[in-house]
Amino acid sequence: MAAEQAAGQDVPATGREWHLAARPQGWPAPADFALVEAPVRRPAPGQVTVRNAYLSVDPYMRGRMNDVKSYVPPYALGAPMDGGAVGYVVASAAEGLAVGDAVLHGQGWREYATLDAAHAVKVDPELAPLSAYLGVLGMPGLTAYAGLLEVASFRAGDTVFVSGAAGAVGSLVGQIARLKGAKRVVGSAGSAEKVATLVEEYGFDAAFDYKAGPVAEQLAQAAPEGIDVYFDNVGGEHLEAAIGALNVHGRVTLCGAIAQYNDTAAPTGPRNLALAIGKRLRLQGMIVGDHAALRGQFAAEVGGWLRSGELRSDETVVEGVENAVEAFLGMLRGANTGKMVVKV
Ligand SMILES: NC(=O)c1ccc[n+]([C@@H]2O[C@H](COP(=O)([O-])OP(=O)(O)OC[C@H]3O[C@@H](n4cnc5c(N)ncnc54)[C@H](OP(=O)(O)O)[C@@H]3O)[C@@H](O)[C@H]2O)c1
Repeated sequence: MAAEQAAGQDVPATGREWHLAARPQGWPAPADFALVEAPVRRPAPGQVTVRNAYLSVDPYMRGRMNDVKSYVPPYALGAPMDGGAVGYVVASAAEGLAVGDAVLHGQGWREYATLDAAHAVKVDPELAPLSAYLGVLGMPGLTAYAGLLEVASFRAGDTVFVSGAAGAVGSLVGQIARLKGAKRVVGSAGSAEKVATLVEEYGFDAAFDYKAGPVAEQLAQAAPEGIDVYFDNVGGEHLEAAIGALNVHGRVTLCGAIAQYNDTAAPTGPRNLALAIGKRLRLQGMIVGDHAALRGQFAAEVGGWLRSGELRSDETVVEGVENAVEAFLGMLRGANTGKMVVKV
């Protein structure tokens, strides 16, 4: 029955998908990627075919382009890349998912995806725009929520500093800290325009452009009484400055180190880690996948703030699957405010 259901549904013979053509050395270049026209499989029993509507481009994908062992396997050369995507079921041979259902799944970087229904999560496009499930209500949103509340053990009255503060994760970290009663929220970002957005739109108490001067000096001015929590999206000079500014019993969430993802030389800092001893600091790495148990609480609380207008989430949308690599490279360069997504 299920196989018959799939027959005659709206599955084209071919669709476009991005392959990794070569492993980037340093900054990725367009020639490291290839847009390939490939057959679209009809769903086998238990599977669905999805027409992707939005694709996610995320910093962790840069790591997957290297042939190294990590918490996610590397992309294979000459094969489609994957990543977060949302779209509509166009053919179903699975119980529980019907043509027209909106789903979140892991086969991004392509126009059409045929996958086991067990690997697709139904989402409600009435509740929030579909792309929000890749950002504020998705993986980056949970990263911000869990990384601040669980990993950094945030408490009302803390002064919080977050780097990458105008991005998908960072913009939410700062706002969640404000909504949860932070004493002071400070952010850093890569342009004067982003700095203005942090203060004027997201309600940060202070913000600075890390390209305009040394991070340690600007942080000392923005948080004259020191910081209690540092949410690190950047690493390097930012982490060193934060270790210097942290108060006794300060906590650091090591979420990302985007300043070094394209480095070919070994990172140089932080050089002041020994300060962590006297200050009794706690620095803890995180991977969002470990925090799935928080998902229900996260969706309810963040969804509520979005509906009440207390929390803002921005997106930068690049149109066209053919521009997905440009969107990815743009995100690494800082072209985005909020979540970078590709509209297929
Ligand atoms: N551990 C986890 O489970 C987990 C999950 C999700 C994300 N992450 C990490 O969280 C961080 C943010 O991810 P996201 O998805 O929210 O990306 P994002 O912040 O939306 O986009 C990346 C941003 O990084 C900034 N950037 C690029 N190069 C930089 C540099 N050299 N120094 C400082 N900032 C730089 C750019 O903004 P500017 O204009 O401000 O430079 C850019 O917009 C990344 O490090 C990512 O790897 C970790």
